[in-house]
Amino acid sequence: MEILRCEGLRKIYGSGENQVKALDGIDFSMEKGEFTAVMGASGSGKSTLLHILGSVDKPTEGRVYVEGTDITSMKPAQAALFRRRKVGIVYQFFNLIPTLTVRKNILMPLALDKRKPNQEFFDRVVETLGISDRLEALPGQLSGGQQQRAAVARALMYRPAILLADEPTGNLDRRNSEEIADLLKLSNRNLNQTILLITHDEKIALEADRIVTLEDGRIVSDRKRG
Ligand SMILES: Nc1ncnc2c1ncn2[C@@H]1O[C@H](COP(=O)(O)OP(=O)(O)OP(=O)(O)O)[C@@H](O)[C@H]1O
Ligand SMILES: [Mg+2]
Repeated sequence: MEILRCEGLRKIYGSGENQVKALDGIDFSMEKGEFTAVMGASGSGKSTLLHILGSVDKPTEGRVYVEGTDITSMKPAQAALFRRRKVGIVYQFFNLIPTLTVRKNILMPLALDKRKPNQEFFDRVVETLGISDRLEALPGQLSGGQQQRAAVARALMYRPAILLADEPTGNLDRRNSEEIADLLKLSNRNLNQTILLITHDEKIALEADRIVTLEDGRIVSDRKRG
């Protein structure tokens, strides 16, 4: 089943002499359960692409469909709701709320919709991510690796159609980076979670089934592994 499709995506920042073509005609799709890594030099358009796929930003041209819904034509409020319910996003800096416990952070997206968590799924996620004994701590009392696991757990709680991760290991040491990559792989395998992961790290990218490379806002290589 196709989860994600984008057609003719272009993104131009600025105008006149300051114009930057961040994306220059991206056509791309992902099937349910796929784990894709996006690589490319700094400035090649990776984060721009992720923001558009996550309905955080709009393209200048082109369309994005998530589970068949055109997210590019949504109004801001509708896009925000869609993002919360259908897309999980993880960034390099963990963006946890410092005054809430880890448990409350993880449950935040559901709480905003006044929804109760599926306890079994919650337990499974925090168990898988190895943070079940840190749930009552505040984010500041956790290591960087643990904070990132909490951010991944939060992104998974809504069982998003797609998990988007922008350099989630960019701020971690080698051991923690590999652990986070392993955990993404595990959620891909065990929960059939569809994942798009941006990384500079060749070794981390090798966890994915498919590696897409961007150069100057275009896809220059798209390889399936295996
Ligand atoms: N808000 C913005 N306004 C103007 N130009 C921008 C903006 N955001 C990004 N750009 C430009 O668009 C291009 C693509 O940026 P993007 O952040 O997508 O690159 P990236 O591949 O994620 O790079 P990195 O690996 O350094 O994170 C760059 O030339 C960047 O300077
Ligand atoms: Mg980036």
